[in-house]
Amino acid sequence: MKNIIVLIILTGTALFAAPYTKQDRINDMHEMAFAMNTIQSGFFYNNYDTISEGIEHLTQAIQRVKPPLEEVEETDVMARYMNNKVQMTNKIVKKINQKSLTILQRYKSGDSQQAIQAYDKILGQCMKCHRKTRNW
Ligand code: HEC
Repeated sequence: MKNIIVLIILTGTALFAAPYTKQDRINDMHEMAFAMNTIQSGFFYNNYDTISEGIEHLTQAIQRVKPPLEEVEETDVMARYMNNKVQMTNKIVKKINQKSLTILQRYKSGDSQQAIQAYDKILGQCMKCHRKTRNW
């Protein structure tokens, strides 16, 4: 019986999960910056586990990134504008995930040059979004 109650409470929490806020996004950004540093230090210390740890954090955090609720609830014109942003975000998320996989595959097969190129492409994706969404 106790278990059922716990289950109900947990399900309730999942259904009414807190909305994504600006602060959540900043936290995810910090996590991604940290993850990028981890990956880089994995390159420097030639440590695959460190690289893959960084990749894991990066891909988990980028998955959460989206326009925060404050902005989603804007007026109609803004809403349309937001949808474009969402589309762009989805594209970037896909790219970052692909390049993350490339890093792991290339590094494992001893091709660190290609792995670093993929890292560079991810960095480019971060900056692409920052350029376009400076005033998000
Ligand atoms: C979909 C768009 C988008 C992508 C992709 C993105 N960012 Fe950001 N980033 C933002 C926005 C918007 C802000 C400003 C957040 C704010 O101040 O509310 C930001 C801010 C930041 C900040 C500063 C946070 C602070 O404390 O002010 C860091 C660090 C950061 N991003 C790192 C990254 C890294 C690393 C990546 C790539 C792995 C990345 N971002 C990819 C949109 C993005």
